[in-house]
Amino acid sequence: MKIAIVDDEKDMRQSISQWLALSGFETETFASAEDALQSVGADYPGVVVSDIKMPGMDGMQFLKKLMSVDSALPVVMITGHGDVPMAVEAMRVGAFDFLEKPFNPDRMTELVKRATTSRRLTLDNRALRRELSDGTTIMKKLVGTSPVMERLREDILDLGQADGHVLIDGETGTGKTLVAHALHAVGAKAGKKFVCLSCAAYDEETLAKRIFGPIDGGVQPLTEEARGGTMVLENIEALPQTLQARLLTWINDQGTPAETRVIAISNLQERGKTCEDVLRPDLFYRLAAMKITLPPLRQRGEDILMLFTRLGEQFAEEYGCDAPQVSAQEAAQLLQAPWPGNIRQLINVSERAVLQNRRGSGSIASLLMAEDEVSEASMTTEGKPLKEYVEAFERMLVDNTMRRHKGSIVAVMEELSLPRRTLNEKMAKYGLQRSDYL
Ligand SMILES: Nc1ncnc2c1ncn2[C@@H]1O[C@H](COP(=O)(O)OP(=O)(O)OP(=O)(O)O)[C@@H](O)[C@H]1O
Ligand SMILES: [Mg+2]
Repeated sequence: MKIAIVDDEKDMRQSISQWLALSGFETETFASAEDALQSVGADYPGVVVSDIKMPGMDGMQFLKKLMSVDSALPVVMITGHGDVPMAVEAMRVGAFDFLEKPFNPDRMTELVKRATTSRRLTLDNRALRRELSDGTTIMKKLVGTSPVMERLREDILDLGQADGHVLIDGETGTGKTLVAHALHAVGAKAGKKFVCLSCAAYDEETLAKRIFGPIDGGVQPLTEEARGGTMVLENIEALPQTLQARLLTWINDQGTPAETRVIAISNLQERGKTCEDVLRPDLFYRLAAMKITLPPLRQRGEDILMLFTRLGEQFAEEYGCDAPQVSAQEAAQLLQAPWPGNIRQLINVSERAVLQNRRGSGSIASLLMAEDEVSEASMTTEGKPLKEYVEAFERMLVDNTMRRHKGSIVAVMEELSLPRRTLNEKMAKYGLQRSDYL
């Protein structure tokens, strides 16, 4: 943490600097507010100590300027003896605190210490929020190269930036919540509030209070808390009719563009029913102007194997053992399983496969069968042609072998008995790049 000391009097700024340096702070000094503004800006990793009376830009103007750049920056103002109106004005404008001349050095050290603690907290929070709202990080979490996933990525980027309300639909575990996060993170509201609530979690009265208020004890209702950001309503189908009407009114009152974006997530377990059946038509059309339907895992073809491999590696690292090798038969089973729990279930299965592998017993098939009474009979090809299975397996095999040999083409050629040209063609076909394995 740095301390920027701003004072036109040389003796003064030097003695403050020396004192604070003795107390263990890293200091920098400026002879004028104009000079200081060259170095001190938004996200300044420290705090400011400034005199009020200075030629040129005075301390009060300087403070105002700093507050407009970074309103959370702690600025300690030094005021003349007995200049109460000035001290009051400084606090009103947003000064962290003030010191009256002549001041007690210990009191200054104590103030500066408090200011730096506050500053560190602010900067940490900002970094965290940026990390969470960084669109590229969250987009990388979405694994899959199947055509449906590529489309999903494009939709997220388009809709995320368009900033309107969105309805997300899909079976359980298909990534609806993750996609809601991604929509927020790639759009203009990234870095603003992102709040979630499940409409199925409360009775009507509590739900009304949670969403619209009032709540006792200074707790903000969702509509207030999310202001300017994104409000996610999970299980929107569970929202009672009266609250659907209130939500619609609230959405309409916001006008366009909406200050707060609504992302409604539907979790209709019952197959064959859609949001259109359970929401008031006017609300449905308001929300579903932009709609994302997440495909079930069983329709994502080769993504299943890619996810299984990636997850297997992650869990293997976590548990400190080898990732399971998938045989051709097991690959076919993974591709044909119905996956009613979708990606969440796949994560589960892959973790257990790793644990089994560590023990050296069990098969992937038995894991699949154990899940939700899945039987041979419920295995499905969903009308996918054989070619698709063969390709998915081929891709996984090349991918895994390249990984094991850290991108050594020669080693992979040998292991798979493939001529170089054929290997190159296959890599190009499956979008695999040697540089990813080095
Ligand atoms: N394309 C993907 N690639 C990798 N992981 C994913 C992908 N989609 C979802 N996941 C992961 O799968 C899990 C389930 O996702 P998520 O919670 O978003 O599903 P959901 O549709 O909201 O489920 P529910 O209906 O139960 O609320 C999470 O751990 C999520 O990170
Ligand atoms: Mg969810």
